[in-house]
Amino acid sequence: MKVIGICGSPRLEGNTEFYIQFTLNQIKNYGIETELIRLRDKNIAQCEGCYNCVEAKDCAIKDDFQEIFNKMIEADGIILGSPVYNSSITPKLKALLDRASFLGRWKANDMKKDNESYKWNGTAFSGKVAAPITVARRAGQNFAFAQMLLWMTVNDFIIASSHYWNVGVAGTGGGIDANKDEEGIIIMQHLADNITHIIKQLKK
Ligand SMILES: Cc1cc2nc3c(=O)[nH]c(=O)nc-3n(C[C@H](O)[C@H](O)[C@H](O)COP(=O)(O)O)c2cc1C
Repeated sequence: MKVIGICGSPRLEGNTEFYIQFTLNQIKNYGIETELIRLRDKNIAQCEGCYNCVEAKDCAIKDDFQEIFNKMIEADGIILGSPVYNSSITPKLKALLDRASFLGRWKANDMKKDNESYKWNGTAFSGKVAAPITVARRAGQNFAFAQMLLWMTVNDFIIASSHYWNVGVAGTGGGIDANKDEEGIIIMQHLADNITHIIKQLKK
């Protein structure tokens, strides 16, 4: 069993990474393998809309995407985390999600014929557990949270939640102070409990 956390912040050991790593650490305490992936270290171009993946079942752009996509496919659970940038997730995370969802869909399906309807046969992510985490200084967490939830729910993930939205409040003046967000940390603890519970039930 493995859960990966993908951090969309360009900042090393920033607030988003703090909440993701905290959640991964709690999951690890339950005996599940974890891995943090920092997109700041990765080269990921945006989707070119070439539709090459429909036939090739692979992305035509060759960069760090393939390595991350393979880790997403191998994982039982995926935590996506992003700082809020103007009410949105960061562009590199968006680029990853666009390419992963298109390739993941066409890996599991073939293009319909002209006079047919789509009859989706799942996606490459079907049945995996996922949860979003967002962090902002003041506002916009829920919009960015919803962006990731919409990505998860169009890709056939099973969503893990907590007793509040998995959002952090941190970063005034560019600070790295998520460790002071006691409520946020308690929310992430419960998120870790729920992710673990769901994965262990699914793997029984
Ligand atoms: C380009 C940019 C845009 C931002 N936009 C918002 C925003 O819309 N709302 C907000 O409350 N904070 C905003 N912030 C603040 C960050 O979301 C906040 O500092 C967060 O804790 C950074 O997380 P990180 O340390 O993981 O990068 C923005 C920061 C930057 C650099």
